[in-house]
Amino acid sequence: MEALKGVRILDMTHVQAGPTCSQLLAWMGADVIKFENPQGDATRGQLRDVPGADSLYFTMLNCNKRSITVNMKSAEGKAVFIDLLKKCDIIMENFGPGVLDRFGFSWEKVHEINPRIVMGSIKGFGSTGPYAEFKAYENVAQAMGGAMSTTGIPDGPPFVTGAQIGDSGTGLHLAIGLLAALHQANRTGEGQYVEVAMMDGVMNLCRVKFRDHQRLTRGDMPEYSVPTYQGMGEVPRAGNDSGGGQLGNAIHCKPHGANDWLYVVVQEAVWHALATRIGPDIGMPELAADPHFASIGERRKNQQLMWTLINKFAEKYTKREFMAILNPLDVPCGPIMSTEDLANDEHIRGREMWVELDHPQRGKWWNVGMPIKLSASPAKIERSPLLGEHTEEVLKEVLGYDAAKVTSLKSAGAFSAPPKKAA
Ligand SMILES: CC(C)(COP(=O)(O)OP(=O)(O)OC[C@H]1O[C@@H](n2cnc3c(N)ncnc32)[C@H](O)[C@@H]1OP(=O)(O)O)[C@@H](O)C(=O)NCCC(=O)NCCS
Repeated sequence: MEALKGVRILDMTHVQAGPTCSQLLAWMGADVIKFENPQGDATRGQLRDVPGADSLYFTMLNCNKRSITVNMKSAEGKAVFIDLLKKCDIIMENFGPGVLDRFGFSWEKVHEINPRIVMGSIKGFGSTGPYAEFKAYENVAQAMGGAMSTTGIPDGPPFVTGAQIGDSGTGLHLAIGLLAALHQANRTGEGQYVEVAMMDGVMNLCRVKFRDHQRLTRGDMPEYSVPTYQGMGEVPRAGNDSGGGQLGNAIHCKPHGANDWLYVVVQEAVWHALATRIGPDIGMPELAADPHFASIGERRKNQQLMWTLINKFAEKYTKREFMAILNPLDVPCGPIMSTEDLANDEHIRGREMWVELDHPQRGKWWNVGMPIKLSASPAKIERSPLLGEHTEEVLKEVLGYDAAKVTSLKSAGAFSAPPKKAA
C-alpha cells in the first residue's frame, strides 16, 4: 500500500520550490489536489519546447497530482476553497509574502476553519525579520544562504550550483516538516504551521562551510588547496576541493573535453596503494615512500604537487578507464556525468531514476524518478495533470457537489479567470 494513502493535500504551490515537495508526497501516495489560479501555474507556459503543450518545467514537477482551477478573487471560489480546507490534511503554498493573507486566509483563519489541518509555507526569507517582505527565486536564495560565496574558484566570481538547492532543497525541507507535523496532528488532533525559508534551507545545506567559518577563528584550514589563515573571516571559494577530512579533486582525463573528468578522493587509507600504482607510470617508482606525501598532513601541505602527479597519470586514460584502475584499489572516485551520460546510464535506468511517460499534449517524455525508495510502497509515476483536468471530479468526489451546484458555480466564474478589463 502507498505510504501516504488517505492523506489529502490542498496544494497551492507554484513554480519549483513547493511543487517539488508536493510531487514527492504524491509519489508516496498522498492525494495531491493542485489548486491553480485559472491561468494556471506560470511554469506551464515557461520555457516551452512543444508549442501549445505544458512545458517540461511544469510536467517534471507536477506528476501524480490532480489539477483544479479556482478563482480565489471571487466569493464563490473562496467558498470552494473553504470546503476543500475542511476535507484536507495538509494545505501548502509558496506565494510571495502576504498573498494568502490578502485572500483573507491567514494561518489563524485556516486553523479556525480546520483545526486538524497542517499548513506549509515556503517563503524566500520567512515571515519575520528585515527580509520578510522580499520575493525570492533559486539564485537569490543561493546568493543569500552562503552557497554562492563559497562556490567557484578563489579569484573568480561567485557561482550558483546546478543543483537547485534553493528551490528543490527547500521543498525537501518542507516535506520533512509537513510529515512531522502530520504525525503530531494524528496524535493530538491539532495541526500547526510549518514555515521554511529558502535562505534558511540553503544555509542548512552549507553547514560545513559554517564549520569552516568558525575554524578560521582558531587557525588555517590545511585541507583547502587555496590559502587560508587565522582571522580570515570569510570562508573562501575553494574550487573542487573535497570540503571534508579527506583530500579530493577533479582530475582531467582523455580526450580532455568538458566532462572528461574523474573526481578522486585520496582517502588516507588508499594513498599507499594509489601511489604504488601510479608512481612507476609517471617516473616516480618510489612515490609511495616519498616523504612529501607520507602522511595526510604532508599530502595536505603538498596537495598541488600531488594533484599534478595524479593528473599526469590520468592523461593517458578516459574517465571510465581511470575509474576502472582506481576501483580495485578501493579509491573513492566518480566520473563527472553529463546529463547525456545520465540519461543513458544503465545504473540509473535500473533504479528507475530516468522514467519515460506519456502526455496527451506532448507525447513521450522523460522525468527524473523518485529518489526515495520505500520497500513496501514503491512509487508509481504518472504524468502531470492538464490545467483544470480534475476540477469537476474533485468538486463531485471530494466535496460531494451535485451537477447543478457545479454548473451554477461555473457560471458565477468560480473556476475561470475574470474577463480582462478594457484598457
Ligand atoms: C516565486 C515568486 C517570486 C513569484 O512571484 P509572483 O509571480 O509575483 O507571484 P506571487 O506568489 O507573489 O503572487 C501570486 C499572484 O497570483 C494570485 N493568485 C494565486 N492563486 C490564485 C487563485 N487561485 N485565484 C486568483 N488569484 C490567484 C495571487 O493573488 C497573487 O496576486 P496578487 O499579487 O494580486 O495578490 C513568489 O511567489 C515568491 O516569492 N514565493 C515565495 C518564494 C518561492 O517559493 N520562490 C521560489 C519559487 S520556485
